[in-house]
Amino acid sequence: MPKLSVEGVGDFEAPHGKRLVLALEDEARLDQLHACGGNARCTTCRVEFVAGEPPQMTAAEKSVLAARGLSGVRLSCQIVCDHDMAVRAISRLAGSGRKDAGPRPADDINPQPVVWIDR
Ligand code: FES
Repeated sequence: MPKLSVEGVGDFEAPHGKRLVLALEDEARLDQLHACGGNARCTTCRVEFVAGEPPQMTAAEKSVLAARGLSGVRLSCQIVCDHDMAVRAISRLAGSGRKDAGPRPADDINPQPVVWIDR
């Protein structure tokens, strides 16, 4: 299983193919935000990569990051755990002022159809 390292939190085994946002929640037990439910709309699932940033991204991720003028972050709802990764969890419920982290994302990446492009 791929290793997921979360800076300042620990190292975890992530089931192969699991969405990163869900691994952060389930395996790392983080209060990771995902306000839009994993649909590449809100960008609250953002993380910073320390190592192992995927060379590809979904077209939906690229589009929403560009629309918000964001760089240096990736959307954990648009990434699957298929290799070792080290991330910084920079968008958590604690201190956000939100009432909850958002609806639980589905097991599969949304929106469909998923189009992979180089980042
Ligand atoms: S963009 Fe909203 S949860 Fe990922």
